[in-house]
Amino acid sequence: MVQMEVRLPPEMEADDLKARERARSQELQRDGSWVHLWRVAGRYANVSVFDVGSPDELHELLSSLPLFPYIDAHVTALARHPSKLDQPTEEERRLMSERANQLISDILRRVHEAIVENEVTYEEYQAVKQWFIDVGEAGEWPLFGDVYIEHVVEKNAFGDRAGSQGTILGPFHLPDAPVLEAPYELPRRPDEQGDRTVVTGRVTDTDGNPLAGANLDVWQADASGAYSGFMPGPPEGNLRGQVRTRDDGRYEFRTVIPGPYTIPLDGPTGRLTAAADWSPWRPSHIHLIVSAEGHEPLVTQLFIDTSDYLHDDVASAVKDELIVHPEPTGKGDELGFSYDFVLAPIHAPVPVG
Ligand code: BEZ
Ligand code: FE
Repeated sequence: MVQMEVRLPPEMEADDLKARERARSQELQRDGSWVHLWRVAGRYANVSVFDVGSPDELHELLSSLPLFPYIDAHVTALARHPSKLDQPTEEERRLMSERANQLISDILRRVHEAIVENEVTYEEYQAVKQWFIDVGEAGEWPLFGDVYIEHVVEKNAFGDRAGSQGTILGPFHLPDAPVLEAPYELPRRPDEQGDRTVVTGRVTDTDGNPLAGANLDVWQADASGAYSGFMPGPPEGNLRGQVRTRDDGRYEFRTVIPGPYTIPLDGPTGRLTAAADWSPWRPSHIHLIVSAEGHEPLVTQLFIDTSDYLHDDVASAVKDELIVHPEPTGKGDELGFSYDFVLAPIHAPVPVG
């Protein structure tokens, strides 16, 4: 457990540092090493639990935080308590190792086959090992996974689920975006670039019944392709917010058309993409998580039909059903499009074993 107190010099301009801190902390949470993060009420401080193998690893991890030079950290080593109830049973442990054995063996067998079929050389193997190290050091495993792996997991898990199509979550979602008030408008800068657009539609269940009070958690890049909280430029919270449906299941929010963007080109994921001569671009899209009580949350994206890269999205996440066609609404320069979301009923857990 680490208690961290952040002491920034009062005159310091720290927006960029804080954005980088948030991105790094979310990477560490996603990769499972930052297990709990609690704000200390009323102070610029937090209490965190890290899952690490050694004090050296903890030091390395803490010193990778952009705010590290300003953090006063107090570390307490925690061990598992034998009386804790939520440990897996013997049977659950056995099932988990069977599954691990099956998956790891299968993946390694396919890697081994690819090595033999392609006559991978020792030099290539050493280069790949260095690349693995670089991805870890750059904190890019979540990015690499979301670009090159997540789309298959998503299609396999949800491709034939009832209701609207979903697609990948990607690495740029931030939990706890502000819950907006009607008339809904994603927070944006006074001089925000990009075509103004209004997004409307309904959220229903699979029988067509409206879902009142359903939540649409919306986030997107700005017109230059930058996400707030991750990239320099947009202020914190820009183009992020939660919108609710009315009693008739309808929703409406205003925003701007986002720009297409590339995955970071200077890191190991970008280098791999360039080495294979693949396009690093994602087409313009708006991300949403649509949720309502008693229904499966829908993680999805709406793709702008006029965007480049719809047919060579680096993350392979475009589905025809998710392409929208903004058209002038007749109100000044405003564009608009409509999209109806259908949510599947909640999936009852299947008993294990
Ligand atoms: C995105 O949708 O923003 C995204 C998805 C995968 C990788 C990088 C970005
Ligand atoms: Fe995105």
